[in-house]
Amino acid sequence: MRIEFVAENTEPGAAEAVAVLAHGATLGGSARHADQLTSGALTRAISAGRFKGERGQVMDLIAPAGTTEERVVLVGAGDAAKFDDLAAEQAAAAAYQTIKLSGMKTLTVRLDLTPEQAAHAAFGVRLGAYRFDRYRTKEKAEAKPSIETVRIGSSDPAAAQAAYADLAAVADAVDFARDLVSEPANILHPEEFARRVQALSSMGLEVEVLGEARMAELGMGSLLGVGQGSRRESQLVVVQWRGAADPNAQPIAFVGKGVCFDTGGISLKPGEGMEDMKWDMGGAAAVAGLMHALAGRKAKANVIGILGLVENMPDGNAQRPGDVVTSMSGQTIEVINTDAEGRLVLADALWYCQDRFKPKFMVDLATLTGAIIISLGHDYAGLFSNDDALSDDLLAASKASGEPLWRLPMPPAYEKQIESPIADMKNIGGRPAGSITAALFLKRFVNDLPWAHLDIASTAWKKPSSVPTQPEGATGFGVRLLNRLVKDKHEG
Ligand code: BES
Ligand code: MN
Ligand code: ZN
Repeated sequence: MRIEFVAENTEPGAAEAVAVLAHGATLGGSARHADQLTSGALTRAISAGRFKGERGQVMDLIAPAGTTEERVVLVGAGDAAKFDDLAAEQAAAAAYQTIKLSGMKTLTVRLDLTPEQAAHAAFGVRLGAYRFDRYRTKEKAEAKPSIETVRIGSSDPAAAQAAYADLAAVADAVDFARDLVSEPANILHPEEFARRVQALSSMGLEVEVLGEARMAELGMGSLLGVGQGSRRESQLVVVQWRGAADPNAQPIAFVGKGVCFDTGGISLKPGEGMEDMKWDMGGAAAVAGLMHALAGRKAKANVIGILGLVENMPDGNAQRPGDVVTSMSGQTIEVINTDAEGRLVLADALWYCQDRFKPKFMVDLATLTGAIIISLGHDYAGLFSNDDALSDDLLAASKASGEPLWRLPMPPAYEKQIESPIADMKNIGGRPAGSITAALFLKRFVNDLPWAHLDIASTAWKKPSSVPTQPEGATGFGVRLLNRLVKDKHEG
């Protein structure tokens, strides 16, 4: 799909679709123009139905008389005073979703946008147009999106184009993350994941891959125990982006859970829905996507990305419930449930990260607990942190990027739920506050550094989708949010 920026008053060509805006009952300038050309077809269509111009509402007029356009898509945008960059993303993406299978080849978006909003509109269309069709060999042409060109109008197309450059880099990165998450586990095992990240070195990223032998030397018994039942080798990937003026200035760091498939191990999960556990590397994919975005837009910051990549399988060599492992930190863990494996992977990845890089802070992302879905549903990821300033920065980036977070507490009193009779801790804390005890477990491996944990089990994938910028399936959740955190707080 091609995206072009055009002047606001560009008339769509024949046999095209045009998207226009309504703020409540008030038609936007381009919508009024379309209404005049069609002798009031829009106004009449509005009074004939329940379209109120609210956010999320769309009305599609087919072949209205008086214009050469075959379709006019009227997009609701709610209160004009609250129409911001995110609203522009949603509105343009909603128009795209409405028209994508219509057979039309060109969509002209005339939403009366500033150049910055136009860039975001393009970003929204790009995000909404994602689909993973690598393994569809027999899809009929009429089932595929028909839109080839999206033209976005604004008061200054050159300025919009310039503002879009960085956003296009972020969209590429979100798609990269979504592809990783969408790939099935027979294709994307730890070594293949590592190879795909290694390929990003052509963008200027420094990528190192540590195999099992090196991790054993480092004493990563906690991570290695998880992968021990798999035929695939576990990998720890270290990605560095040195974009700051001083390439040796203290970095910031992001750590991702990359369980390429989570069967539960010997504590085997039920069969129903187990296929979803190919998504259990969504945290690592988000960190890989973030690094892709930073390199793509040449961010002026030093950033470390660490991916803990394993496959959690039952096998004659798999770890057993009751096994005790020694983590790189020296702390011992009684593995009561082999299905609580994400925290075991992160324990060593976090410790390694702070030990080697001494970053200003660490943020980890992980599809860590089913309990976070029970707590927050699918629209929020859980935020846990030992640092209020970092937490506030993340919440601000969350608001600005449209990837919602909700902070949860980490009461010290709940620590007793993960006490073990024979080791320094056990890896599960029982049913109450399952996401919180998981976070308390991780906290023991950050060595008092400012740290935040994002439990993205609720947001890494969606089925079905409720947002037009987010097709069903892998969301790439975290890439936009973390990119925004870096951009707003750690550059220049
Ligand atoms: N990967 C799962 C968490 C998960 C569950 C993500 C459902 C997305 C949807 C994680 O490894 C896991 O199995 N967690 C257990 C922890 C329990 C054994 C303490 C869980 O949430 O049930
Ligand atoms: Mn598990
Ligand atoms: Zn898992």
